[in-house]
Amino acid sequence: MASKLTPFLFRSSARALRQFQRAQWRPFSAAPASRSAGLVVHRDTPDNNASIPFKFTAQNEELIQEILSRYPSQYKKAAVMPLLDLGQRQHGFTSISVMNEVARLLEMPPMRVYEVATFYTMYNRNPVGRFHVQVCTTTPCMLRDSDAVWKACQDHLGIHHGETTKDGLFTLTEVECLGACANAPMVQINDDYYEDLTYDTTVSLLKALQNAAEKTGAQPGAPGLTGGAGKGAAIGTDRNVKSGNEINEQGRAYEAGGVKAPTPGPLSGRKSCEPAAGLTSLTGEPWGNETLRKDGQL
Ligand code: FES
Repeated sequence: MASKLTPFLFRSSARALRQFQRAQWRPFSAAPASRSAGLVVHRDTPDNNASIPFKFTAQNEELIQEILSRYPSQYKKAAVMPLLDLGQRQHGFTSISVMNEVARLLEMPPMRVYEVATFYTMYNRNPVGRFHVQVCTTTPCMLRDSDAVWKACQDHLGIHHGETTKDGLFTLTEVECLGACANAPMVQINDDYYEDLTYDTTVSLLKALQNAAEKTGAQPGAPGLTGGAGKGAAIGTDRNVKSGNEINEQGRAYEAGGVKAPTPGPLSGRKSCEPAAGLTSLTGEPWGNETLRKDGQL
C-alpha cells in the first residue's frame, strides 16, 4: 500500500513546493486597497468643513447661467455634475462647502449632491497636490507594464496611493481605465493625458513638472482660482491658467516663462495611436476607378 502511494505523495509535495517558491497570483490593484468607508464618508477637517464659506466667482456665476440655460428650468438639478466640476476647478477640490453651495443653487437636497460627488471618482473630496497624478493600472495598461509606471511614481515621489508629497506638489492615485488604452500605459495629470510611458519617461516627466513648478514659483495645492490654494505661475497642466502658455512644436513642450514642460500625448514619439512600428497595411497606392480600369471605360 505504502509503495503505491509513494509516487502520488512525491508528486503532490513537489507541486506544493513549486507553488511556494513562485508567486502564482497577482493582486488586481497594485496599490493597497482603499477601505470603502474612505470613499464615501465625510469627516470634518480644518480645511474641509461646512463652516468654511464658498461662493462662485462672478465669472463662474455667468458660466453657471449658461450651463443652466441648457436644461428645462424644472430640471435644473441635471446641471449638478458640471457645477460640481466648476466648483472643484475654482476651489481646488470638491469640499463639503462646494457641494452645499451647488445644492443651494440647484435647489436640491444636499444629500442628493453628496451622492453624486461620492459616486464619481473624478471629484476630489479632499485636497490634492498641484499635480494630481492618476496612474491607470487596468488590464491593457497592465499588459504594457503599468507596474513600471506606478513604481517610477512611487520611487521618484516617495509617496504611495492617495498620498501627497510634503511640498504639496504631487498627489498619487491608482485609477481604473481612463479610455486611452491604445496608448497604454498612461497617466492623467490634472486634465492632461501622458501616454506610451516607460519607467524612464515617467521619471523625466515628473522631473520636468517639478522643475517647471520650481522655476515658475508655482504654489502647492490644486490650481484653484480662489482661496489661494493653487495660485502660481502657469505651467503645462493648468487648464485654468494656461492662456499665457505656448506650445513649442519643435521641442514638443509647453513653455511658461522660459520653462518647458512636456506636451501631453504619447511620449514615445508617436503622434497619436498609429502603429508604433509604422504601417503594416494600406501601404500601397489607394485603389480607385483609375486603378481598376486603365482603359477609361469605367
Ligand atoms: S486600460 Fe489604461 S487607459 Fe484603458
